[in-house]
Amino acid sequence: MATTIDELESRRRRAEQGGGEARIAAQHGKGRLTARERLTVLLDEGSFEEYDMFVEHNCSDFGMETQKVPGDGVVTGSGTINGRLVYVFAQDFTVFGGSLSERHAQKICKVMDMAMKVGAPVVGLNDSGGARIQEGVASLAGYAEVFQRNVLASGVVPQISLIMGPCAGGAVYSPAMTDFIFMVKDSSYMFVTGPDVVKTVTNEVVTQEELGGAVTHTTKSGVADVAFENDIDALLATRDFFDFLPLSNRHEVPERPSEDSWDRTEESLDTLIPDSASKPYDMHELIRKVLDEGDFFEIQPNHAANIIVGFGRVEGRTVGIVANQPMVLAGVLDIASSKKAARFVRFCDAFDIPILTFVDVPGFLPGVAQEHNGIIKNGAKLLFAFAEATVPKITVITRKAYGGAYDVMASKHLRGDLNYAWPSAEIAVMGAKGAVEIIFRKDIGDPAKIAARTSEYEARFANPFVAASKGFIDEVIMPHSTRRRIALGLRKLRGKQLENPWKKHDNIPL
Ligand code: HXC
Repeated sequence: MATTIDELESRRRRAEQGGGEARIAAQHGKGRLTARERLTVLLDEGSFEEYDMFVEHNCSDFGMETQKVPGDGVVTGSGTINGRLVYVFAQDFTVFGGSLSERHAQKICKVMDMAMKVGAPVVGLNDSGGARIQEGVASLAGYAEVFQRNVLASGVVPQISLIMGPCAGGAVYSPAMTDFIFMVKDSSYMFVTGPDVVKTVTNEVVTQEELGGAVTHTTKSGVADVAFENDIDALLATRDFFDFLPLSNRHEVPERPSEDSWDRTEESLDTLIPDSASKPYDMHELIRKVLDEGDFFEIQPNHAANIIVGFGRVEGRTVGIVANQPMVLAGVLDIASSKKAARFVRFCDAFDIPILTFVDVPGFLPGVAQEHNGIIKNGAKLLFAFAEATVPKITVITRKAYGGAYDVMASKHLRGDLNYAWPSAEIAVMGAKGAVEIIFRKDIGDPAKIAARTSEYEARFANPFVAASKGFIDEVIMPHSTRRRIALGLRKLRGKQLENPWKKHDNIPL
């Protein structure tokens, strides 16, 4: 017995060595942790239970039969994050560059299947040279098996991808189909074809970082959600982020004790809105003052910042926030912000996370570029997402709610459950100046008349009371009582039942 136990121990030690000391040192030299070190940071101490530690590849081409490393370049299993179950895989760059073989893919598929069966999120740590070149089509088949599971798991269990090294070629499509992508600055990149191919095909000269680094994807493309300084920051932030998510679509949102009183009033919110309608203010202030302990995990903070999305808690339970940001492009809705918010709303709806919407929106962004790039179809994504969502929806209009954007932003007409407005709200087809210039065009040469008409329009429409008189606003509330109103509303809405008509699936304008 002692010998067999020794044998197991020695096999384990061998597997834990991955690609060996020199390659581990090279990984550290690049400022990156190894797969196992990463899992140690991500998971609760001692909680990791590994699967398939002794799996080896089955390739016999190019001398591969003599090069076998137990585990085959990916560490898989389950563990806990702050006591809650999670399935994980971490690609090990020290073994064949973390490249994906048939068996490596089978290991990933096994944890994904388990996660689906029991109802627990999957966190994937990606660090790979892509398809295992020696295996050819077997590797491509392995990718497709993972892709298929990403799709089936979508909306069933949360899927989070951390990009912590290379992720190129078709390999990018697995993270792309997961719910959230976090990247590490100056250390990770994602692209379909690298700088050399780009140079050959389009003659553009670009570095890896410029083409597909963390900053590029979290600002320009919006492919990734948040960029972190290093591996440790990314992994610790993932732990915090995980705490907001339900384990699956069969579980309720997590609840954690909060010291923050549900009826905390915030007098400072009464003066948040500047006197001048054209002056901006930071919507983050309202968000933080409403949420428990001001704790807000923002998604895509640096992409399409004219809309803010992210998670927080009220009375200890997770909520999703969608809010126009007057500080950026006056909070206008454009293509990028509509896409960003639509995807977020759909995540919340899939996982039964109530949505709080804070509205200060002057409308959709005019312009040839917006029209030619499809603001119609893209704006419709957000409209569609809010309209199909059946989770509790509470909306607060703080200032402008103009035109189609009023309808889109979780209005009463899109089955908003509680639609509040602050006294400073202006709910109208458009701003007073624009409206007067259209309906009193003949008076444009007469500034006095225009000024009088503008004041008349403002008095009539630049307020919440017309909408309130029609029941489109349930109540005009004092800004300082916003948290209390929301907390009460969420309590009432816990028992909400609403179902969309049966269908195979909808056809959101993609
Ligand atoms: C097998 C690979 C590999 C791969 C790297 N290695 N990529 N082995 N298949 N795809 C091995 C190397 O041989 C080396 O082995 C070790 O991993 C580390 O690689 P280095 O090149 O020394 O590391 P580095 O200089 O950091 O460069 C990393 C890299 C580079 C940029 C990722 O390795 C690279 O360009 N690899 C090929 C990438 C690629 O073309 N992949 C296929 C893409 S197509 P030793 O033994 O020396 O340590 C694809 C299609 C997917 O992925 C389609 C899905 C539908």
